[in-house]
Amino acid sequence: MKNIDPTLLNNFRSPAFPGSFFMSFEGIEGAGKSTQIVRIKEYLEDRNFNVIVLREPGGTSFGERLRQAILNSEKDLHPTTEAYLFCSARAQLLTEVVLQELNEPNTIIICDRFLDSTIAYQGVARGLGIESVLKMHTIFPLNLVPHKTFYIRIDLETSLERQRMRNLPKDYFESRDDSFHSKLIEGYDACAELFTDRIKVIDGSKSADEVYLKLKSEIDELIFN
Ligand code: TMP
Repeated sequence: MKNIDPTLLNNFRSPAFPGSFFMSFEGIEGAGKSTQIVRIKEYLEDRNFNVIVLREPGGTSFGERLRQAILNSEKDLHPTTEAYLFCSARAQLLTEVVLQELNEPNTIIICDRFLDSTIAYQGVARGLGIESVLKMHTIFPLNLVPHKTFYIRIDLETSLERQRMRNLPKDYFESRDDSFHSKLIEGYDACAELFTDRIKVIDGSKSADEVYLKLKSEIDELIFN
């Protein structure tokens, strides 16, 4: 990975609301994000948190419409088009939902995908470049990032095997070739190297129960220590 201008990295900050947390889950297809998010939500609700699960793109009616427009696009979109659409959905989600909800005490927002998806998908796999994506995130509210991001890491073979077992129809990104999915892993690994404090890499090749226990202990550390 070529050196990234540090001013682009130092520009990010997490929203400061005492007692409330914002976290995101990242990973390629088959990593098990959705399963883990459901379990972590239940765990945190049992600990009396108000837990709000959001997804990107989505989480607002505008974002959900953009989601449909991108994932059902019949034409290949330019990566710049994709990146600006994801940024638009994100800016709206941050102002309309995230910043409002975090104002409430004991709130935990869990977002299924966030900034690191744009870095991995548009920045690396679609070839826009990591710096270009970071530059797009320099202005408020796009300079806001989660307190913690859990990157559930699996290799390409595990992803392909799990996709085969699920046998679901593939969308705009899922239908791309293996080299695209390899680049996604490269992109996520680069994110973990760039944002060492924010991103925690979790080994997603383990069983769902083992991954859950690991996540739970990381979240306990974040919230209760
Ligand atoms: P998913 O929520 O089912 O994973 O679908 C979202 C798709 O959009 C997924 O293939 C990843 C992709 N995506 C990007 O390419 N860039 C982004 O910034 C985000 C949030 C998602």
